[in-house]
Amino acid sequence: MLIGVPLETHAGETRVAATAETVKKLVGQGHQVVVQSGAGVNASQTDSAFEAAGAKIGTAADAFGAELVLKVVAPSEAELAQMKPGAVLIGMLNPFDNDNIARMAERGITAFALEAAPRTSRAQSLDVLSSQANIAGYKAVMLAANHYPRFMPMLMTAAGTVKAARVLILGAGVAGLQAIATAKRLGAVIEASDVRPAVKEQIESLGAKFVDVPYETDEERECAEGVGGYARPMPASWMERQAKAVHERAKQADIVITTALIPGRKAPTLLHEATVQEMKPGSVVIDLAAAQGGNCPLTEAGQVVIKHGVTLVGHTNLAAMVPADASALYARNLLDFLKLTLSAEGFKVNLEDDIVAACLMCRDGQAVRKNG
Ligand code: NAI
Repeated sequence: MLIGVPLETHAGETRVAATAETVKKLVGQGHQVVVQSGAGVNASQTDSAFEAAGAKIGTAADAFGAELVLKVVAPSEAELAQMKPGAVLIGMLNPFDNDNIARMAERGITAFALEAAPRTSRAQSLDVLSSQANIAGYKAVMLAANHYPRFMPMLMTAAGTVKAARVLILGAGVAGLQAIATAKRLGAVIEASDVRPAVKEQIESLGAKFVDVPYETDEERECAEGVGGYARPMPASWMERQAKAVHERAKQADIVITTALIPGRKAPTLLHEATVQEMKPGSVVIDLAAAQGGNCPLTEAGQVVIKHGVTLVGHTNLAAMVPADASALYARNLLDFLKLTLSAEGFKVNLEDDIVAACLMCRDGQAVRKNG
């Protein structure tokens, strides 16, 4: 099968959907791979490395014109227009974007959005949300340390003692837990909160303190359990009590990293303006939910702004700030998805496979995924 790997053109996107390592495996299985010239340059994957792995270097039209196209994010309309009807597209295509699904269906392609894979043990090796959120959690701490005008660890020097930074992490999923582990390695003192009761133990095992907001009703307890491992919007009563707890903890904190997301919805507000107003001057907020509306209303997506003396960082694609490793892990996720669909005989859509079925967005000109 002819597999195309285009250069990502979305603003700020530095990742690439294949690496020399994954190309070598695909070529070894008897496929031909055409990589757009320069596709991997930002991710430390040179054209010559791809060539050495067995790929041909081509143009955008060559890559988009393949039978199977591997992408990081959804193609633009102009890029989609270069794809052949009947071709297969795999990437992080945003399963909640109905317009994009309709556009892809109209083009007559078969498309898979890897973010829609179930959070099961079998799907773990192809879980792009985890592989990229892990990187975002790490980078959030690096960015915080960069913007923070003080040291992270406690230091005892001849000129006096420096206190360790206090870091508050809101949302302890994959990104939040990696942020805890990274901040811990830098010597910070950490507190963290989440709606899901299961994470208390995980937070504590990483050496952070759990900010407990006890449930008071059955509705709160039920919502907190989430669906399929994901959080659901919490009742207003719980959110109010959480806001009060966050307000008190944030006033003491030097750095707040927010990571709370609810799939397919605007991110919940966890850090209110009144709280930011009372944070210490020079404090830093890294809002990993910036692309989904932000966990703090003062965050500006894609910008670093200072408000009430607090630096608010709203970068929307932190994984792309670690492009080499983000691409390496993403490309392996893709390869693991291909193990379920691609063989020497060609590409097969096996709807009996729950992972394949969950990721399928459109096929034969029809949208398969329907969001409410
Ligand atoms: P996410 O990126 O959707 O959300 C980040 C975190 O924000 C979550 O922990 C969520 O509970 C939390 N959150 C939402 N609303 C909040 C609020 N009001 N206050 C505080 N926190 C709030 O989540 P992510 O990181 O994708 O993980 C989702 C789940 O999937 C987790 O349970 C994780 O352990 C599980 N998972 C399972 C995998 C597997 O078995 N293959 C792989 C990776 C994750």
